[in-house]
Amino acid sequence: MTQTAPDTNPLRPGTALDRLIVALDFPDGKTALEMVDRLGDAVCWYKVGMELFYAEGPSFLGALRERRKRIFLDLKLHDIPNTMASAVRSLAAHGVDLTTVHVPAGQAALEAVSAVTAELRGRGQSAPLLVGVTRLTSLAAPDPERPWDDVVALAGSAVAAGLDGWVAPVDAAGPLRGAHGPNPVLVCPGIRLPEGDRGDQVAVGTPEAAVAGGADWIVVGRPITRATDPVQVARAMVERMEGR
Ligand code: C5P
Repeated sequence: MTQTAPDTNPLRPGTALDRLIVALDFPDGKTALEMVDRLGDAVCWYKVGMELFYAEGPSFLGALRERRKRIFLDLKLHDIPNTMASAVRSLAAHGVDLTTVHVPAGQAALEAVSAVTAELRGRGQSAPLLVGVTRLTSLAAPDPERPWDDVVALAGSAVAAGLDGWVAPVDAAGPLRGAHGPNPVLVCPGIRLPEGDRGDQVAVGTPEAAVAGGADWIVVGRPITRATDPVQVARAMVERMEGR
């Protein structure tokens, strides 16, 4: 079993600005880069998901790196251990900083991907932080009376296998931190300003609630990318995380 030490990882965010990840849910690279360039210094981290990555491939990641942006590649890997480990090795070569794997892929697969990042870090090479997706937020809790029990259990097996942390909604942050402590990194999507439109999100939370609950990063898509003034909303998100 491999154990990483996320507290000593230089990628753990230091400032509120470093905690904001903007989801580039766009169908093509041109539109996505227009948004990146419009946001400029107001945003350091971007999430690239399946839609954009399958359209543009790794060259888009190069365009983000040229702009000195951090990359969260959200491909939610779920396969046999050897395939997942090889995939993480390929992603590391593309300069990905943070990436997702499905925890239900199983203990052997999680240990295999963790072994790859531990090996790369051991050689002084960069490797993405690995965060586990426990239960997709589109799925109902198996036990509505105890809505986070399955998530907390899966999260425990993820860190036991050496993953760096998890992706989870804001409401799960308290139960996760309570059960597993402050060390694993936590990425919370579904973030809205109090007056914001929920869109299709069921589990939403504010930036300040996410940070108070123990989130390291928040992921924000449409509230910023569909705003009339995306820079102003990005700055508002950061100010709320700073308690301003
Ligand atoms: O536009 P919005 O802020 O809802 O976008 C949230 C982003 O976070 C999307 O890219 C979505 O796929 C992602 N995400 C999520 N819930 C999860 C995991 C990822 O909303 N549990």
